[in-house]
Amino acid sequence: MSLQDDIAQTRAEALAAFDAAGGKGDAAALEAARIKYIGANGLVKAFMKRLGEVPKDQKPAVGQALNALKDELTNAHDAAKSRLGAAAPKSVSAFDVTEPLPPERQPALGKLHPLTRTVNELRDLLRALGFEVVEGPEVEDERHNFDDLNIPPDHPSRDSFDTFFLSKDALLRSQTSTVQVRMMETRKPPLRVIAPGRVYRPDIIDATHHSTFHQVEGLCVDMGVSMADLKGTLQLFVEGLFGEGTRIRFRPSFFPFTEPSAEMDCSCPACSGIGCNVCKQTGWVELGGCGMVDPAVFEAINHARGDKAYDPEVWSGFAFGFWIERLAMRRHGITDIRRFLENDLRFLRQI
Ligand code: DAH
Repeated sequence: MSLQDDIAQTRAEALAAFDAAGGKGDAAALEAARIKYIGANGLVKAFMKRLGEVPKDQKPAVGQALNALKDELTNAHDAAKSRLGAAAPKSVSAFDVTEPLPPERQPALGKLHPLTRTVNELRDLLRALGFEVVEGPEVEDERHNFDDLNIPPDHPSRDSFDTFFLSKDALLRSQTSTVQVRMMETRKPPLRVIAPGRVYRPDIIDATHHSTFHQVEGLCVDMGVSMADLKGTLQLFVEGLFGEGTRIRFRPSFFPFTEPSAEMDCSCPACSGIGCNVCKQTGWVELGGCGMVDPAVFEAINHARGDKAYDPEVWSGFAFGFWIERLAMRRHGITDIRRFLENDLRFLRQI
């Protein structure tokens, strides 16, 4: 075949190849065609090299025809490429990963339950005061829930109206004070622990009572620990939780496992102690109980351990127990304890 015939045939093939690749949006095929026909080692280049075969008088015409072919194929390639470009944005915009989702398709972001947040806050505060966070089981025996806490067999809290018994000697703990016993049984003094956790009482449920609630227990045992240490610790604790300037007061009370014992109140966070609905116009709200560990508890622990690790002549300690719901209610102005367990998202979203 003469060079002129080859040129004509290649022209037709190349135009068809560029057109097809552009039409299909096939960038790889277009690039392959470019290399094959108009690339540095492509067919057009090869034709140029064959100009020597052409009789002299026809050379200018064939040369011109080759230049024209190169231009035509380059234009055809560019046109096909711009068809690719036009198709491309469509496929990109269909999958723009940076585009924000419309509100109805946004994933729902959860947040922590108000009780969890209160526990996290008080845990951080007490950790900063040197307390370690520990846990105890919710299913307990009578010894840990009562006996070793100096709660005698005839105490009303041991009545089935006041404790959920699972069997003769298995119960749902009614206080986190059980963890005091568990810690002292297994560790030697000095000791500085807090134990947040869930407790259970068969109480009649109303705005301030529930069968399931949470407490945080604190225990510090060391040499020469006094009521002043207890008061100072709790003062820092309430200021951290409710803000600087919050005052505390101890009211004499009785708990079998502490002597002396006190109920602790703090100045009402809602009105700063002036008097409002939250504090029933008294200026004070009750947070929980506290006191100095009763030596009888140390003796019970020594008995259980079979040693004298907690010699009351050497060691003293303070303990406290707060209702976490109460702390959260005071903090957020919640007036009904039932809200915490109802799972009503309208309530939970507000806090
Ligand atoms: N466990 C007590 C209760 O549930 C609260 C309590 C009072 C805990 C005094 C203490 C304490 O550690 O010292 O009523």
